[in-house]
Amino acid sequence: MALWGGRFSQAADQRFKHFNDSLCFDYRLAEQDIIGSIAWSKALVTVNVLSHDEQQKLEHALNELLIAVQQDPKQILLSDAEDIHSWVEQKLIEKVGDLGKKLHTGRSRNDQSTTDLKLWCKDEITQLINIIRHLRQTLVITAEHHQDSIMPGYTHLQRAQPITFAHWCLAYYEMLTRDENRLQDTLKRLDVCPLGSGALAGTAYPMDRDLLANWLDFSSATNNSLDAVSDRDHVLELLNNASIGMIHLSRFAEDLIIFNSGEANFVELSDRVTSGSSLMPQKKNPDALELIRGKAGRVIGALTGALITFKGLPLAYNKDLQEDKEHLFDALDTWSECLAMAALVLEDIKLNKDSCQEAAKQGYSNATELADYLVAKGVPFREAHHIVGEVVVNAIAKQKALEELTLEELKVFSSVIDDDVYSILSLTSCLSKRSAKGGVSPEQVKSAIIKAKQQLSM
Ligand code: ARG
Repeated sequence: MALWGGRFSQAADQRFKHFNDSLCFDYRLAEQDIIGSIAWSKALVTVNVLSHDEQQKLEHALNELLIAVQQDPKQILLSDAEDIHSWVEQKLIEKVGDLGKKLHTGRSRNDQSTTDLKLWCKDEITQLINIIRHLRQTLVITAEHHQDSIMPGYTHLQRAQPITFAHWCLAYYEMLTRDENRLQDTLKRLDVCPLGSGALAGTAYPMDRDLLANWLDFSSATNNSLDAVSDRDHVLELLNNASIGMIHLSRFAEDLIIFNSGEANFVELSDRVTSGSSLMPQKKNPDALELIRGKAGRVIGALTGALITFKGLPLAYNKDLQEDKEHLFDALDTWSECLAMAALVLEDIKLNKDSCQEAAKQGYSNATELADYLVAKGVPFREAHHIVGEVVVNAIAKQKALEELTLEELKVFSSVIDDDVYSILSLTSCLSKRSAKGGVSPEQVKSAIIKAKQQLSM
């Protein structure tokens, strides 16, 4: 039976009921709804709605229900209750009879549903942080193994300057660190409890809402009841965090798909995260990475959908707000699955160090070195840049790398070039010169790894 039968003389059309009900997705809030209900029953004692004994009976029954839903959450789906709030109340009444009907005094599903979702978000953030940490750790471990794995770095997808695979891993480590920090920031802002805001104007029972908030592990109670029941900023923030996180993961995936291509042949992905073609026996496809890249669209779609759903809603609660949950559940499930998958891909990745190094030597990625060499010999940088451009054109015509040009051939472009030029054109010299903070030099990369390990207490 619905919670609101009294005013109605006709049953809901089954098609409307199906359209309106939210149990098929908000059953995931069962634990939070029960925990919130226990706290609410305690608050009702403070305003003399429930006696101590009555509260104890309710708490006992709610705890039994909690254990049952922890053991088998999907049992809830067998019910035709409208939503999780109705389901919990129905079950409570089945257990304790009429006493269960007192629990909803002074409370509305409007403050209840947003409280449940906030409690869920807090748990979910903790879980997401753990999964992000796992990927950050995997990136650091991979970086540690590949400090001397030289590969080309790109701009415009053109070979630009040599880097190491370690430096590449640490770039993603930085992004993931920001993703984690963003979640911590969101957690601070959402940590205020809406329970006791009633339907929209506040509860008519003069309780200590900050105390109620503390019982539920929130830092305080919300300030304004109209805002409290209609605020979904935390949903938008989490969807935004997920979208940015997925953008990072999709770039990670795209880089590795390119590195794994037959053309690059820099990495080999494990059989554990690839699949074959039904037609072409030779194929081993980077499906895990392609799905990560593809699912970014779905998460960004959830953010866009939620922004548009909430736009222009009048105060306070409107049923449109029920749409918050599916967007959020789907986006955060997807994000956490992709984070785990990214770590799995990285754990088993094999680098073809020779192909990487060979590719780093090609494409004149040491041309900047030659320009810096000329600058060190007194040539202004702009002029040096021009000279090296001409040297590159000449080298391309001769199908030679810069270091393969003879001193005579080099001197045609600038008389200041000497024998000492060859040592600065080597890959190791290119790397070690980039020793300012954040650069690719072996010492910088090493200290970045040490710092990351400290941050992760590894
Ligand atoms: N299922 C609803 C939701 O998720 C609960 C609140 C319903 N409130 C109401 N007045 N109909 O938003």
